[in-house]
Amino acid sequence: MTSPIRTERHGDVLVIISDNPPVNALGQAVRAGLATGVEQALGDDSIRAVVIRCDGRTFFAGADITEFGKAPQSPSLPEALDKLEASDKPVVAAIHGTALGGGCEVALACHYRVAVPSAKIGLPEVKLGLIPGAAGTQRLPRLVGAEAALPLVAVGDPISAKKAQAIGLIDEIVGEDSLEADAIAFARSKIGQAVSRSSEGTANEDGIRNPDIFDQFRAQNGRKMRGFDAPNAAVAAVKAAGELSYADGVKKERELFMQLMNGTQSKAMRHYFFAERAANKINDVPADTPLIPINKVGVIGAGTMGGGIAMNFLSAGIPVTILEMQQEALDRGTSVIRKNYENTAKRGRMTMEQVEGAMGLLTSTLDYADLADCDLVIEAVYENMDVKKQVFAKLDEVVKQGAILASNTSYLNVDEIATATQRPGYVLGLHFFSPANVMKLLEIVRGANTRDDVLATSMKLAKKIGKVAAVSGVCPGFIGNRMLSQRQAQANKLIMEGANYWDVDDVLLEFGFPMGPFQMGDLAGIDIGWHRDPSKVTTVREALCAAGRFGQKNGKGFYDYDEARNRTPSDEVKQIIADFAAREGNAQRDISKDEIRERLLYPMVNEGAKILEEKMAQRASDIDVVWINGYGWPLYTGGPMFWATTVGLDAVVAGLEKHGLPASHYLRQKADAGNGFD
Ligand code: COA
Repeated sequence: MTSPIRTERHGDVLVIISDNPPVNALGQAVRAGLATGVEQALGDDSIRAVVIRCDGRTFFAGADITEFGKAPQSPSLPEALDKLEASDKPVVAAIHGTALGGGCEVALACHYRVAVPSAKIGLPEVKLGLIPGAAGTQRLPRLVGAEAALPLVAVGDPISAKKAQAIGLIDEIVGEDSLEADAIAFARSKIGQAVSRSSEGTANEDGIRNPDIFDQFRAQNGRKMRGFDAPNAAVAAVKAAGELSYADGVKKERELFMQLMNGTQSKAMRHYFFAERAANKINDVPADTPLIPINKVGVIGAGTMGGGIAMNFLSAGIPVTILEMQQEALDRGTSVIRKNYENTAKRGRMTMEQVEGAMGLLTSTLDYADLADCDLVIEAVYENMDVKKQVFAKLDEVVKQGAILASNTSYLNVDEIATATQRPGYVLGLHFFSPANVMKLLEIVRGANTRDDVLATSMKLAKKIGKVAAVSGVCPGFIGNRMLSQRQAQANKLIMEGANYWDVDDVLLEFGFPMGPFQMGDLAGIDIGWHRDPSKVTTVREALCAAGRFGQKNGKGFYDYDEARNRTPSDEVKQIIADFAAREGNAQRDISKDEIRERLLYPMVNEGAKILEEKMAQRASDIDVVWINGYGWPLYTGGPMFWATTVGLDAVVAGLEKHGLPASHYLRQKADAGNGFD
């Protein structure tokens, strides 16, 4: 096998080049090649400096994740990097694309770093449930200080070349199109000088003098870090860089790294990394399917959903025409969009020019004819089959042939909607989640007749607007809401049988969800759909409305709320539920949190299994992608199907049976086969 690493001589500078597509991951052959390249430079007196760069779209984008969990192959990255750093001839990293994870650690082990303006640098290991494992947590704080290192190591978002230069991570920004030549010139300028090794740096003194920064950092990022092991380990590792010698710090990093690597969280998060990418692929749609150009989008409905959907495209620079029935609703909708953008600008995440730029792409109309030249129209009107069919029939009349017609329905039959048109091949579901400009998930609902190019275009578009997409077949509620309804049914049953509703919420909170179903009800408003007739109360929610409890909006719903919106369980509500249960003939009993958890989550897994059996999802990991991005399922458990595998499918089946719930044929079959979901 030819090595992915080659060397080229430029006078007295040796350039070591990696060519390991797609992202120059640091697999064994790359590590070995790097070590050999450095040996070549050291063994040749005519070589006086070294540049390391990559071909293709990026500098090393990290360790090869596919090697994780397998037997290590020599040389390890730390070994290769120690050899590199020990060189007494200057070694310069020449960075383009994304220097991530192990790639950033390569750069840190080099004596100097130059980058093109568009480069990004970061240590995203925490996002895989890990910390850097090739001395990144020890070299970085010594180079840039603990305060600057903390967010890089413990949050994991990459930074721009400019920011990296500002904190001292990059020595020089070079020409976008002259990276190699500029890096060679830079390396030459360092010949004859003592090399600068980041392992020997002392910039971490700010951390030593002010140990409070670590607690402050934890306090500031508490919400983001809740439940995750890796960010805490990352903070501990950076702290160790200020307290221990370099050699001991590296040992500490290794210890923390190995704990994480062998734990369930990192396995789950690595599963998710590949799950998200797999979800992008539609099994029977060829990767080279020609795409439909999308240069103009129509959105029907300027309410919360329509407005949020429109913002996705405006933010991505795609013109949108938004349609409403009444001028007043149209004006309200567009002013909400503007306000949302202005709020983003106030928080410093957008400039006012960008706000005006996005708003400049928005056209509003009351006339369907204005949608004629749209390449894609998304309908976000009232969730009612007749209304949707009318809208689609109208769209079929006015919108040009070849355009995609999409429904944002969250549970209606997309095939039936498509019958209202003469072009069912161009119809599909694009199910956004509220708030649609924020939530990452896009459920793409594939109708029986949806064309390949329509699907492929929608997948590509999802990526362009920053969404994570997963494909669902047509079934009530699709993947996400179909499983949610199982959880909700159990939540309602549990409180009828005597479970405290706050225990139901707390079980989900403790599991890692941002909130439970009753808190969610309070937040959304439990009076949605309330008929205002206290004599016709048929559900607990209606009983609460009859008692004037509408949710957070009036300070009391399932919970009582104080000024700061802290929730306290309400005796009144507990009594309302008990009365309601008595009326229905339900005996109340104490219900443990274990039972609550099993009854909420196992039926979801069971429904997921049915979804797979019916081929409504292409693969189990797509279901994980849906639940993590659309419903706040905790990432560190890998999603419902991965989690079920870690719990053991036989345990899930046994749990369902224990609670008198049926386990599906497919779940039993998988449990008997003993190998979990694939
Ligand atoms: N190891 C192995 N494979 C990797 C990889 C890695 N570190 N990083 C990316 N890949 C693979 C992806 O699985 C994908 O494979 P596929 O085409 O078979 O699906 C391919 O490379 C392209 O990646 P993709 O993410 O689709 O490309 P992109 O251009 O959108 O993004 C990156 C590129 C590098 C920004 C992104 O892949 C990334 O963030 N990678 C992980 C970086 C990381 O966490 N490094 C630290 C590891 S310790």
